Amino acid sequence: MANEPREQWGTRLGFVLAAAGSAVGLGNIWRFPYVTGVEGGAAFLIIYIVCIVFIGYPMMVTEISMGRNTLRNPVGAFKALAPNTPWWLIGGLGVLTGFVILSYYSVIAGWSLSYIFKAAAGFPEGIDAADAMFGEHITGLGGPIGYHFVFMVLTAGIIAAGVVKGIQRVVKILMPLLAILLLLVVFRAVTLPGAGEGLAFMFAPDFSAVTPQTFLAAIGQAFFTLSLGMGAIITYGSYLSKKDEVPNSAVQIIGADTAIAVLAGIAIFPAVFALGFEPGAGPGLVFVTLPAVFAEMPAGTLFGFLFFVLLSIAALTSAISLLEVVVAYFVDEKGWPRKQAALVLGAVIFVVGIPPILGYSVWAEAGTFAGDLLDTYDFIADSVMLPFGGALTAFFAGHVWGIKNVSDEANEGAGNLRIGNWIAPFLKYVIPAGVLIVMLFGIYGVVTG
Ligand code: PFF
Repeated sequence: MANEPREQWGTRLGFVLAAAGSAVGLGNIWRFPYVTGVEGGAAFLIIYIVCIVFIGYPMMVTEISMGRNTLRNPVGAFKALAPNTPWWLIGGLGVLTGFVILSYYSVIAGWSLSYIFKAAAGFPEGIDAADAMFGEHITGLGGPIGYHFVFMVLTAGIIAAGVVKGIQRVVKILMPLLAILLLLVVFRAVTLPGAGEGLAFMFAPDFSAVTPQTFLAAIGQAFFTLSLGMGAIITYGSYLSKKDEVPNSAVQIIGADTAIAVLAGIAIFPAVFALGFEPGAGPGLVFVTLPAVFAEMPAGTLFGFLFFVLLSIAALTSAISLLEVVVAYFVDEKGWPRKQAALVLGAVIFVVGIPPILGYSVWAEAGTFAGDLLDTYDFIADSVMLPFGGALTAFFAGHVWGIKNVSDEANEGAGNLRIGNWIAPFLKYVIPAGVLIVMLFGIYGVVTG
């Protein structure tokens, strides 16, 4: 079974949609608007876009190239590029990171699934009622575990079906659907009376709101939202043909991800301002503030329903890329059949996701300096494993595999847009050093609380 021929995306569009599907997720629609709200709106947006261009683009090109060059999962890719060295451990860290992120990502995605039904039934009016509804949902057992289970079954089912028949088939339907739903919700938001204030918040920069923390938030968000630093893009790149363009694909994936994040902001802030709510509500923005907004807005039941359908779709196309990293490792390196890997690993990840759910009820006293159990999982994955993996990957590409090899691979099959030498200082110095510094500050900040 281990010798099944490696699959390839049917078309370059298939690859771009799958990678954009990986990138566009809870990070864009749940996380990006609330971080923008907390970190001061447009000023954050500008810093974030600089990070996307100078960190996101070189890393995206590098990871796609590593995958396409080696035709391997992250561990196999590092082994192939630096045989008989310990560098493969970076790939191992990536596989582990995918495992950890998916376990709690699926829990949050489960909340989103349950909100589809809550929205259809009509959200209660007032922020206190919305807050109580959210509290009641997450402190339950059957509900959150059930939806987490359903979401993992969907994810594992798609991965079991394969790269082309599973992932590619699903993203070709879901990604256009997601764009249409988002545009509908945006249209509703910007046509509310008083929406202009929300748009001003997003697009008129107030630099007095910028602190060192703003830069940390922007870099972390750039890695998370583009699925970089843990081998998801290496894995997806390993199914890309040599004939396909890498630099151009990277621009399209990043462009789609950024457009969706900005559109999500445009869908959320005008509505929040128009109805007199607070933009800086934090992680509860989507699950508490928005339901209260939908409860008051004309046709809010319909738009609330559409919003949580689109949030769940975005989460699903990201979750499959997280599971694919783990599955590709067991298929390539351990010779497991794909179906068995998807089901066994999906089941294990489901179980690992249960403690964060219990952390809101029977294990309420469990927690760490990073917060409750879900916060702790998120902190370990997002603030430690992801930046560490990203910095090491950049260092590896810049100093071990080498800039020439990165650009030769990236430029093979490329059209007009080719990768230039400007990426060299970023891969060699700026990203490894900058991201490590950010990570250390971030950890220090949380530990000293
Ligand atoms: N990019 C996803 C999001 O923004 O929600 C999260 C993610 C998916 C991170 C896949 C990492 C990954 F490999």
